[in-house]
Amino acid sequence: LKYGNESLNRPLVHFTPNHGWMNDPNGLWYDEKEELWHYYFQYNPNDTVWGLPLYWGHATSKNLTTWDQEKIAIEPLSDDSGAYSGSMVVDYNNTSGFFDNTTDPRQRAVAIWTYNTPDSESQYISYSTDGGYTFTNYDSNPVLTINSTQFRDPKVMWHDETQKWIMVVAKSQQFKIAIYSSPDLKNWTHESDFTQEGYLGFQYECPGLSRFTVPQTNETGFTNSSSTDKWALFISINPGSPQGGSSTQYFLGEFNGTHFTTDHSNTNVIDLGKDYYALQNFFNSPDGSVYGIAWASNWAYCNFVPTDPWRSSASLVRKFTLEEFQANPETSILNIKSTPVIDYDSLNFGETSSYHNETLDTENPINYDLAKNFDGLIEFNLTYRVNNSAFGKADFADLSLYLIGEANSNEYIQLGFEGNAASFFIDRGHSEVPFVQNPLFTDKISVNNQPSQYINSQVSEYKVHGIADRNILELYFNDGSQVSTNTYFFTGGNFIGQVQLEVGIDDVFQIEEFEVRQMTL
Ligand code: FRU
Repeated sequence: LKYGNESLNRPLVHFTPNHGWMNDPNGLWYDEKEELWHYYFQYNPNDTVWGLPLYWGHATSKNLTTWDQEKIAIEPLSDDSGAYSGSMVVDYNNTSGFFDNTTDPRQRAVAIWTYNTPDSESQYISYSTDGGYTFTNYDSNPVLTINSTQFRDPKVMWHDETQKWIMVVAKSQQFKIAIYSSPDLKNWTHESDFTQEGYLGFQYECPGLSRFTVPQTNETGFTNSSSTDKWALFISINPGSPQGGSSTQYFLGEFNGTHFTTDHSNTNVIDLGKDYYALQNFFNSPDGSVYGIAWASNWAYCNFVPTDPWRSSASLVRKFTLEEFQANPETSILNIKSTPVIDYDSLNFGETSSYHNETLDTENPINYDLAKNFDGLIEFNLTYRVNNSAFGKADFADLSLYLIGEANSNEYIQLGFEGNAASFFIDRGHSEVPFVQNPLFTDKISVNNQPSQYINSQVSEYKVHGIADRNILELYFNDGSQVSTNTYFFTGGNFIGQVQLEVGIDDVFQIEEFEVRQMTL
């Protein structure tokens, strides 16, 4: 193994282009006829850094776990321009007039995207009559222009109550998310601006508006059959996010067809990690739930990460639901919960090991060798109880999980819980790949971590579910109430082959459950 062979570290279940540069997810939709998921992405096939001309790359999946890369779907009109981010709708009722009976209503895909040239950003539409593989540009593009170079990333949905298409689009450097409506995807009326809310950073990008159903729970704890709707507005900010670089925030509130208003003006971060940007949700899904994909990178260092001949991967697909979340012992709030979508039937498994009800002491770590020469995709579930009476007795009162390279154990990720701070931490800096020295990569990350259960006044329970896929680690806390997604980079082919669970203090940590399994395609 040597540094320079990072082509071996291509993720298995995180979509990664065969070669070239990728950023934001675009145009996510589900073809109900073919039962096929479509995912497009910002793509520069000519280099492994962002650059013009910029295209919409394309991939499809049957199971949301493994993807096939397809041919480029949308091209910019000249080499100094870009087909920037945007979305897809299914125009079932042919409101646009682009379709006739030869296109199944379930496949009437229309893309709404930003055409970026040196002097403007304006909104274009293109339609497909072959199920989303090739697109024809509307001959009267642009459909929306405001004489601006900072007007981009349209996300369009159908609003039943008003029987109109609704677009949210960023007036990036005015910190505005503009809301437009249209009967036909061609004529757009400005309805309102959502402006200067939450974290601003340098600019707003990639907005999204999604409708959630909130189950109503009555006083006896039973779920009523009635339910109410709640809306979430997502806004990506870059640079200048609180985590450093780029991240995705959201607001919960009401949408009446013209205006989005927040219930509470608190900013929520959808993922507390460093590598989860430009989240986009699918236009539709077979069960009506909200599913989304983000770009698993960060503009602060994406152009320099040690991968080749590609740069960047997508996050796992997540299912989003709105649920009550115990923010602290006194207050519970509505929060978007994230559940990773993995089709386990499409995977094969290596070693699995599990431990239950062990009190860990400093002399006896759990040390587990995984099967040799496996593929570098592992999953773990860890549920632990923390007794806070012993705090202050060690400077670093940790429960640490080490995910260690098989061929070179100097490369490892250390993650865990530190009792004095009652905080989760991740250290992705133990690698021989020079890139990890980049200070903006911030190898040490913390996650504000709430208990999943308060057992008694001294003891709290926490849960973490992790998926490590060659160079992306996704951590779901307390069944997905909090999430942290972070890339890591080991020497090419040095896959995780050993797992160790250790404590730095006695009588504090009780392991309720610890399960690790290796997976492969
Ligand atoms: C966000 C973004 C978008 C833009 C695209 C260009 O990452 O800057 O605002 O449409 O990338 O590739």
